[in-house]
Amino acid sequence: MCGIVGYIGNKDVKSVVLNGLYNLEYRGYDSAGIAFIDRKEKIHVYKKVGKVSVLEKEVLKNISNVSFKLGIGHTRWATHGKVSEQNAHPHTSASGKIAIVHNGIIENYVELKEFLEEKGYKLVSETDTEVLAHLIEYFYTTEELNLLTSFTKALQQVKGTYAIALISEYEPNKIFVARKGSPLTIGLGKGEMFVGSDIYAFIKYTNLVIYLNDENIGIIDGLAYNIYDLEGNTIDIRPVVTDSDLMFSDLQGYRSYMEKEIFEQPLYLKNALEKSIIIDNDDIIFPYFNFFSQENIKKINRIIITACGSSWNAGLIGKYLIEKLAQIPTSVEYASEFRYSSPIIHQNDMIIAISQSGETADTLEALKIPKSNGAKILSITNIPNSSICRESDGIIYMNANQEIGVAATKTFTNTVLILVLLSLYLANGKKLLSTTKMKKMLNELSDIPNKVQQILDQKESIFVLANKYVTKANFLYLGRGINYPIALEGALKLKEISYIHAEGYAAGEMKHGPLALIDEFMPVIFVAPKDYLYEKSVSNINEVKSRHGKTIGIISESDKYLPTILDDYICIPQTFDEFNPILSVIPLQLFAYYVGTIRGLNVDKPRNLAKSVTVE
Ligand code: AGP
Repeated sequence: MCGIVGYIGNKDVKSVVLNGLYNLEYRGYDSAGIAFIDRKEKIHVYKKVGKVSVLEKEVLKNISNVSFKLGIGHTRWATHGKVSEQNAHPHTSASGKIAIVHNGIIENYVELKEFLEEKGYKLVSETDTEVLAHLIEYFYTTEELNLLTSFTKALQQVKGTYAIALISEYEPNKIFVARKGSPLTIGLGKGEMFVGSDIYAFIKYTNLVIYLNDENIGIIDGLAYNIYDLEGNTIDIRPVVTDSDLMFSDLQGYRSYMEKEIFEQPLYLKNALEKSIIIDNDDIIFPYFNFFSQENIKKINRIIITACGSSWNAGLIGKYLIEKLAQIPTSVEYASEFRYSSPIIHQNDMIIAISQSGETADTLEALKIPKSNGAKILSITNIPNSSICRESDGIIYMNANQEIGVAATKTFTNTVLILVLLSLYLANGKKLLSTTKMKKMLNELSDIPNKVQQILDQKESIFVLANKYVTKANFLYLGRGINYPIALEGALKLKEISYIHAEGYAAGEMKHGPLALIDEFMPVIFVAPKDYLYEKSVSNINEVKSRHGKTIGIISESDKYLPTILDDYICIPQTFDEFNPILSVIPLQLFAYYVGTIRGLNVDKPRNLAKSVTVE
């Protein structure tokens, strides 16, 4: 949600800030804006509705020859106020001498706005952010405080969340930053410094990174950085060297990141198998598992998985896997609900927080409740040093490399793979698996990337299917057992990428209501591989057929019967029941991708969505 960029140094400030914005565009793309300070110490602000490319044109048209000392930029995902130039960031103070960009929500902005209006300030936007620019200037001018103290004092009044970068003609050689609840990092170069909502804003230039903590305020001037708390005390934060494997990747000939990320799944599944675990004596060792040794794991009585969206769907697969293989009772909670519930947490509960970005605000808050009750947190994430990692007692990395498309694809399959490995680890610790069974399963897992490739090789058939059904207004996705979450995930992919209404449902629940929706216009996609519930799925398919619904199946290649009754089908290779979801989701990702592209939509940046949801 919103991307923040900043740069101070000798490079061309415009190019560095614009480049950072392009790299963070996946966080929000309603509008974009920048503010620079030129050599005469004057602020220049440009903002445009739409993508960064629109802003870039504007900047090049107006100031291509001007040289700047420093700059900040913002790519917006609207929360307060419609998508308009006026509401785009940066926002400036009444004098125009302070410009700020913000990610987060200032919950008491109405109260602050009333205070400012009483003092004669006129606000020009509908945003919560603008109040902050005025409030800082109010303290600076009326109380004659320096900028740091004015900034700190304003933040002390704020309820809500923020990541902020601020520049000002009052102190034109510095960038001020602050963080609470929304991520913000500082990149350290040689005689230059960067600011980014995440490291992709500047990883091209440096991998030496300071991760700000909540209620930190910082000042950077290109040579030195100083960090303070909200009371004004100095804080010592050391930079860390971040994995340079996380280099921002380009399209490499693909038409979109979503397409690239779907097709690179075999590569990153292999990567996860190689990097997430060490196989030692037929046991699995997770390199960053810290607290979760086999000794400590033995004490675990219950697991609670918390996550949002696709990560939640993967978590539901985790429940089936953990309960089946490791026999530990597991529940799966939407983080947005869990954070406001009154869960009964025991010390021997293990909490698994799943989050690709590691920054999802709901998931971050949800894990704090059990943590304060003494439960241990294991996070599964794709982004090292993310906020969720830093709250966790152990981490398993997805190792999927950066995912840019808003729709989770390769991070979803890598998460499911990791949940399989975790279940095997837990089962092994409880001596529930024989060495032969463990060996067999690990052996089959090593073949999963090839099996995913075999499905990707059927892309033409899936494209034909997408063409056939592209005009339908509604879809039902059905699955049973471990494939029920895949029905949910398939429907979520279609909704977000093609804007077609799609419902994921447990196939056995159909007769309790949704069967009323079936007629000759309703396509129903069944995830029905030959597993322990195959016969049950066949009965559900027949129920739909007898009501004239169009039936499409994701079925096993060994299945001779379903091809005779389905309208259409895509085959997946045979594997263990536990591994089926990694295969059965692939045709559904491709189907959504093709439907979206045939409809001419921007599959990487679906309307109203953002990759990293750092607000509630
Ligand atoms: C999936 O395609 C989505 N874009 C979305 O549901 C996503 O999975 C969700 O917002 C959670 O994100 P996270 O994994 O980064 O926490």
